[in-house]
Amino acid sequence: MTPDQLRRYLEFYQDLGVKSVYRRPQAAPAPALAQAPAPVEPAPAPASLPVVPTASASNELEVLPGLLPSLEPEGDTLPRILEDLGDCRRCRLHEGRSKIVFGVGNPETKLVFVGEGPGADEDAQGIPFVGRAGQLLTQMIENTAKKEGIPLLRKDIYICNVVKCRPPENRTPLPDEMEICGEFLFRQLLAIRPKAICALGGVAAKALLGKKEGVTKLRGNWRRWRDIPVMVTYHPSFLLRAYNQSAKREAWEDLKKVFHYVYD
Ligand code: URA
Repeated sequence: MTPDQLRRYLEFYQDLGVKSVYRRPQAAPAPALAQAPAPVEPAPAPASLPVVPTASASNELEVLPGLLPSLEPEGDTLPRILEDLGDCRRCRLHEGRSKIVFGVGNPETKLVFVGEGPGADEDAQGIPFVGRAGQLLTQMIENTAKKEGIPLLRKDIYICNVVKCRPPENRTPLPDEMEICGEFLFRQLLAIRPKAICALGGVAAKALLGKKEGVTKLRGNWRRWRDIPVMVTYHPSFLLRAYNQSAKREAWEDLKKVFHYVYD
């Protein structure tokens, strides 16, 4: 593994919130299967990111093949990610869900919208953004695009969430839930490789950018997730609150920027 590949692995795990990695000593050659004793895992030695080569190692870190799951599994596709997600029970959110809400839209789109997590309507239907906030999002997308002379419908883009199961009482997803489900979100984004991502609200912004700042600070300017430009804007649920007229205007401005960047 080259240092550059290793750096990309470590960045990937950092994106998932992994703070430490473990280097296992080089395994002895495996004995013949017939006489194989029960495997005994050597105690892993914790190390902080980034990994520093041990004194005995050469400058190039050898990471054992198969030690790390593939970053971007060869030929990764949305159906394969969905299959890997399976009947997910990796975190507590599965306990209260009716349906996993994976994502919807055009897998070959140039634009992906990322929300926070399913609400009651989404949980019942298994489709993101179908409730009141979803209807507003659809209007925002289609009306803004139309006004700007861009022929774009909701079905032309892809929409998904940071977490794929509804949090109880629509509470904000917890860090470990975001971390676990983030693996699938990142794979979705890497499989689609859109020209831009629009992060709806603070949870999506935090998952993609890892920043502490709120939406008001982050919105309106291009940022990056990996090499993909990200525009943060207000979550439609926030915009549904009547007192947010100026936020609505700002969200419309953000969307205009996104559409012109992606479709001009
Ligand atoms: N809010 C979200 O963040 N996602 C949905 O799918 C619906 C509402």
